[in-house]
Amino acid sequence: MADPNPLVSGRGFARLRAAGVEVEIGPGAAESRELNIGFFSRMMRQTPWVRLKIAASLDGQTALLNGQSQWITSSAARADGHAWRARACAVLTGIGTVLKDQPRLDVRLAATPRQPHLVVVDSRLDTPLDAPLFIAGRAVFIYAAVPNALKQQALEARGATVVYLPDANGKVDLRAMLLDLARREINELHVEAGHKLNGSLVRANLVDEFVVYLAPKLLGQGRGMADFGPLAALSDAVELAFVSAESLGPDLRIVARVKGRDSF
Ligand SMILES: NC(=O)c1ccc[n+]([C@@H]2O[C@H](COP(=O)([O-])OP(=O)(O)OC[C@H]3O[C@@H](n4cnc5c(N)ncnc54)[C@H](OP(=O)(O)O)[C@@H]3O)[C@@H](O)[C@H]2O)c1
Repeated sequence: MADPNPLVSGRGFARLRAAGVEVEIGPGAAESRELNIGFFSRMMRQTPWVRLKIAASLDGQTALLNGQSQWITSSAARADGHAWRARACAVLTGIGTVLKDQPRLDVRLAATPRQPHLVVVDSRLDTPLDAPLFIAGRAVFIYAAVPNALKQQALEARGATVVYLPDANGKVDLRAMLLDLARREINELHVEAGHKLNGSLVRANLVDEFVVYLAPKLLGQGRGMADFGPLAALSDAVELAFVSAESLGPDLRIVARVKGRDSF
């Protein structure tokens, strides 16, 4: 298939043909595009392909009301989640998850030639300097809204890149952040955040795909997958299409796409 990058489009074909290689465009194009969906998204929409990973109970809870969420799903689901992290250019989370879970959010349970970058949405630069997410050799980007030179300097001394992109409410402007990440050549963005940031991303219509692990357990009251309601009518629902549903150890893995988001 043709390369969507305007800088190269068609030139590879010309070189191959000049070298006597027969080039056919068309067969396998859909599969090729799927393999490279993040690159196509960045070239054609100027934003990464945004995949939101959620681990939940069968009744849709992602954490207890006291914040506990480790672990709702099985080790098989967690290992599979690491494989999805590995294929992304960057993993994104929110400051709520950083403070509550102290996660590393790196790839440990799957083979990878490199660690994806880490992106934290953190309006007031509250990321602790001793957070486990600072791992040697991995780039960390912190998107903030409220400038604070002292905190910024300390985080930059830890190796982080701080970017201020405030929205009208003093939070991070998430669409502007995606445009900025695309400029930094992030093709696939893997989100593992809490219900608040997930909710803002869904509300702003910035999510393309969901990878949801469902554990065969009920948690009753807790935190849902994404806080974006309440809706006034069922017709306001975010419409998805299931891509796949598989068993993974004791859990289910469901991949679903937001309708129409992959037609670019
Ligand atoms: N089961 C799972 O899949 C899963 C995955 C991850 C986390 N969790 C659980 O989720 C819980 C944390 O959830 P959370 O909702 O507090 O944390 P979160 O969604 O990770 O982070 C939310 C924070 O992001 C900041 N933020 C900045 N700009 C924002 C914007 N435009 N929209 C929304 N948020 C913005 C806000 O804090 P500031 O205003 O200070 O910037 C907000 O409080 C933990 O209990 C964790 O265990 C579960």
